[in-house]
Amino acid sequence: MGLAERIGEAAAVIRTRWAETPRVGLILGTGLGGFTEQIEIQAQFPYEDIPHFSKSTVESHAGRLVCGTLSGVPIMAMEGRMHYYEGYSLEEVTFPVRVMKELGAEILIVTNAAGGMNPHYDLADIMIIDDHINLMPDNPLRGANDDRLGPRFPDMSEPYDRGLISLASSAALELSIPAHRGVFVAVSGPNLETRAEYRFLRAIGADVVGMSTVPEAIVAAHAGLKTLGFSVVTDMCLPDALEPANIDKIIEVAGQGGERLARLIPLVLERIE
Ligand code: HPA
Repeated sequence: MGLAERIGEAAAVIRTRWAETPRVGLILGTGLGGFTEQIEIQAQFPYEDIPHFSKSTVESHAGRLVCGTLSGVPIMAMEGRMHYYEGYSLEEVTFPVRVMKELGAEILIVTNAAGGMNPHYDLADIMIIDDHINLMPDNPLRGANDDRLGPRFPDMSEPYDRGLISLASSAALELSIPAHRGVFVAVSGPNLETRAEYRFLRAIGADVVGMSTVPEAIVAAHAGLKTLGFSVVTDMCLPDALEPANIDKIIEVAGQGGERLARLIPLVLERIE
């Protein structure tokens, strides 16, 4: 079965239990899933119940799609995502974004936990993603292109929507939430980086590094969705002062950043035109 047919099957199952058209699709990263408490839930689906959805094998991810409204906006939110390092293909990783588009979403909001390489950043700070660098050894659009889903050579001059970035910046300022604007670089993981790698990633222009988000943003651009991305700085990755990564600490800090996003994202949604 082709990709378009699989997308259709997944969307059909969601539609049988949720009649609304989503305006926004939200993907919640590591430690950031608690956020869905604020959604007025109308339907929810464990990923196993949706045809062709993969399961997230990461413990800190619930693996549930929640549909409902937040700040009055119809939204479908993924508690947990699939990652390349789990062994999934990038087509599998980005499949939910295709389903969001098929159901009628216009905007994708992605969140992630990331390592901070910009020395001006601090733990639990939010970075609004301004641009990205794809250093994953693959691309979700590799292979025959289905013109019904998007163009062969999608433009990447503005993968993150300028209007949404400024909306998010002013909302953060209003809520006194520290929020930077910067460049996210995606690596495959699952290992964290060496000091030499952090030095390299910083030198090529990145402010934070993570193991997700870029495949989803590429597919969103291909599908014609506007994207807004948030990173939470969960560990500082300064090559000359690097401490061993502590995954429990990373998840704890992600929780603090997650509380900030749980205040920021509803305000952003309220203001989307
Ligand atoms: N590197 C890659 N991914 C990450 C990091 C990191 O330091 N921290 C959180 N996600």
